[in-house]
Amino acid sequence: MTDTKGSGSPNLSRRSLLKAGLATSGAVAAAGALPATARAGGDPLITEIQDWNRYLGAGVDEAPYGMPSEFEAHVVRRNVPWLTADTVASINFTPLHELDGIITPNGICFERHHGGVAEINPADHRLMINGLVDTPLVFTMKDLKRFPRENHVYFLECAANGGMEWRGSQLNGCQFTHGMIHNVMYTGVKLKTLLDEAGVKTNGKWLLPEGADAAHMTRSIPMEKALDDCLVAFKMNGEALRPEQGYPLRLVVPGWEGNMWVKWLRRLEVGDQPWHHREETSKYTDLLETGKARRFTWVMEPKSVITSPSPQAPVGHGKGPMVISGLAWSGNGRITRVDVSLDGGRNWTTARIDGPSLSKSLHRFYLDIDWDGSELLLQSRAMDEHGFYQPTKDELRAARGENSIYHNNGIQTWYVQKDGAVENVEVS
Ligand code: MTE
Ligand code: CO
Repeated sequence: MTDTKGSGSPNLSRRSLLKAGLATSGAVAAAGALPATARAGGDPLITEIQDWNRYLGAGVDEAPYGMPSEFEAHVVRRNVPWLTADTVASINFTPLHELDGIITPNGICFERHHGGVAEINPADHRLMINGLVDTPLVFTMKDLKRFPRENHVYFLECAANGGMEWRGSQLNGCQFTHGMIHNVMYTGVKLKTLLDEAGVKTNGKWLLPEGADAAHMTRSIPMEKALDDCLVAFKMNGEALRPEQGYPLRLVVPGWEGNMWVKWLRRLEVGDQPWHHREETSKYTDLLETGKARRFTWVMEPKSVITSPSPQAPVGHGKGPMVISGLAWSGNGRITRVDVSLDGGRNWTTARIDGPSLSKSLHRFYLDIDWDGSELLLQSRAMDEHGFYQPTKDELRAARGENSIYHNNGIQTWYVQKDGAVENVEVS
């Protein structure tokens, strides 16, 4: 939503909250009494020796590849069964409500496949560069690992993230409303390095990456982007890509919609114009009220969501200190500010961004409040370094109508009830 640039930035100081009478309720005041109560009065977990304190634990070789604690077994990807006819051409969602910091652990990065997960022995994998180049080339994985590498943390967001919410709130949980996103550190070779090796001809203006999966996924990428910051990556968070994320090789297209990040990357064709993709008549375009569609909407615009509390992460305590936490991101660059509202967007206060603030990466934000136990309408709104703001859902619909599936970056509202339960709602 480039048309929301700089628009309607309310005064977010504490003074304006005081004026609005909200801060006096104590809802935003810095945390008061600590939640940890001294339970010296006979808590058996303190006074008795427990089993795990008495017997030897498992030795070092029982889990050569470690898994999370059995008590974290609920932290898993989930799909929405009615969304797609089968699981081979389907999607599942990252459990954002269970995570903290900015990095998504490899085993719970959401997956989107059009033809299932290709199983490829890296020794048999090849990457070909052909088309409008001086020297067509074929690389083995070993060849690729001899080029200079880089490491970058980037988010990957499917263009359809939030697509089910265009017409109104529907799915009860940020895993389902916002979970088509992950954020990992990639290790790979700059795409420019490989293209330079082949020598792109002067009329080579477009690139067609192709996947080795049964879907033969292809996308058209303008050469300018390909030569800018794209990577051909073989590692995520330090280890080999997971099969579902494109092992042994995937394309990384920072800040741009997920469908261009071709997995199981086997070919890069250089051409002088964009290819016609079968899906483009119905997919990866944004259908407007007029019947016209927006094409080539690649950048993922600024967006944020409160991950806790949220419907799958209700408030698990009474009045008093509460940590409100969430994620913000923008395909344009860094996030410079996130504002949080407790009252459905009438008053805003600036949240604290914590941890690394990297371009085209998730950012973690917090707002520490002293909850007075009253109902809240929680919202968050992201702003990026170019001054682009996240729009309200009403603003988004006014600009794009209700036929779209893709690029829903509207402000999310969570209704926190007195008993701590949380629901997905809309306010206008
Ligand atoms: N690449 C291939 N070869 N096949 C695919 O089905 N799906 C695309 C993209 N690359 C896809 C692909 C889509 S739509 C998205 S959103 C991302 O991969 C998802 O990446 P992930 O599975 O790592 O989350
Ligand atoms: Co996608």
